[in-house]
Amino acid sequence: MSSRALPSDRLRLGVNIDHVATVRNARGGTAPDPIRAARESVAAGADGITAHLREDRRHIRDADMETLARTLTIPLNFEMAATDEMIELATRLRPHAACLVPEKRQERTTEGGLDIIGAQDSLRPRIARLTAAGIRVSLFVEPDLAVMDTAKRLGAPVVELHTGSYCEAVAEGNTARTARELARITHAAAYGFGIGLEIHAGHGLALDSVGPVAALREIAELNIGHALIGEAIFVGLGQAIRDMRAAMEEARA
Ligand code: PXP
Repeated sequence: MSSRALPSDRLRLGVNIDHVATVRNARGGTAPDPIRAARESVAAGADGITAHLREDRRHIRDADMETLARTLTIPLNFEMAATDEMIELATRLRPHAACLVPEKRQERTTEGGLDIIGAQDSLRPRIARLTAAGIRVSLFVEPDLAVMDTAKRLGAPVVELHTGSYCEAVAEGNTARTARELARITHAAAYGFGIGLEIHAGHGLALDSVGPVAALREIAELNIGHALIGEAIFVGLGQAIRDMRAAMEEARA
């Protein structure tokens, strides 16, 4: 166990606004506006805004990213594939953070963690380039101890643990699988924190799954999108964020 103090009781919530852009793009116009969603998220107490500029621009567009980078009053987490095009853009826009994710054109969402063990040689210079531009690099990875070691060796200060399999297990009502997946996240968070990484987590988290992850004190930040934007249809975005924050805080208390 590291001698570093655990992150504070206040777990940060990064709100992912991609799916506001998904709905906008369904009609090709300008509404609903993801920038307005970012402003409402700030007002509701979000600690950061996350947006994924995908290679195929299926939701967030370049102009959204430019406006967010220029106008946001809280940290912007630029989710991106580790491609030359995205690195160029990020080093020009200089967001607070860049989260490197795997990306295949056909997938509906980011299906699994980045293969940082297999891609070490190509990732190392890209992480160095983003870092030199003053951008905090986070690697979106599977909760696995060897992966934590590799992230550390690559010089990334942050890992975001992929919670997708755990959330799938919760949704299936499969308690044995849920326990197994949560144990993987728990061990990876403790180990990664112990070797000096800042630990984030995300993907698929919803009100019924966030608690056990939020309770892990090594985790400093959760990034949540789909469940918040979905719930916003019924209760409004501000209320959806406040409800999620309450669930996180209750678990952390
Ligand atoms: N974190 C990362 C790295 C992601 O790729 C995503 C999905 O875009 C999320 C968090 C948010 O996942 P969800 O929309 O399922 O909450």
